[in-house]
Amino acid sequence: MGYIKSALLEETGYVVLDMYGKQIDPKEWMDIEYVDWKSSGDTRFAPLASAKGEIECNGFWNHQPPRTDKDGVWIPSQTEKAPTLTDRALEPGSNVGRCRIIELQPNTYADALYNLHQDDNNRLNPDGTGWVVRSFFNLTDDKDSFFVLRDNRTDPNGETRIALPAGAQLVIDTQRLWHAAYHPGDAPRYCLITSWESGPELDAYMEKYNGVNKVESVPLDQETIDAGQAEQERRIAARAAALAARGQREVLAMSEA
Ligand SMILES: [Fe+2]
Repeated sequence: MGYIKSALLEETGYVVLDMYGKQIDPKEWMDIEYVDWKSSGDTRFAPLASAKGEIECNGFWNHQPPRTDKDGVWIPSQTEKAPTLTDRALEPGSNVGRCRIIELQPNTYADALYNLHQDDNNRLNPDGTGWVVRSFFNLTDDKDSFFVLRDNRTDPNGETRIALPAGAQLVIDTQRLWHAAYHPGDAPRYCLITSWESGPELDAYMEKYNGVNKVESVPLDQETIDAGQAEQERRIAARAAALAARGQREVLAMSEA
């Protein structure tokens, strides 16, 4: 039968929507509760919806009974402090799974390459239903930051770099594309991340905001790309060696961010 997927996401695995044009009070992401949850860098997360409405970030498949990344339970103590963000997650009318704000501490381009990962959004997702993708709504005005997207973790050819100013809105098939954020500077980046089920509601939403599935990459000099690539290779090899010494292998698919 197969999953219901978005035609617009099919070609590249990502869609960039129009910028969100309004101001949001930073209290919406500063005054809510964060939990330590390491994923793709030095991170904390503030969930707005979780598996059971608790302030925690575990994949829904790790709860009892295990289930896929749909039907997230809203957390009133969080959503009442973040009404605009909650509305934005609900705006398409798609089923919402995990919904959380990520706080990412500054990093380097090489860090981002090492942090590249695929998500696990569709574990236990029933065949014939909508494929779970993720929206990224950048909250802080991170003008020098960008999202790194690759079809292949270790291949820089075809890398796409998408700018992350405040109001940037992306929808990404994060189970398909390797992804991570590069975030220079001295202050954390905040971004709303929501798991949405593909279907007619999401298609209409992406059309309404003029979604495009190909954008010009943020320019980056070849020297930085080459140095980042070499460092990624070095760290992957070092980690593989450390794991091998313990008789383990790396688990590539990560569930978060
Ligand atoms: Fe991710």
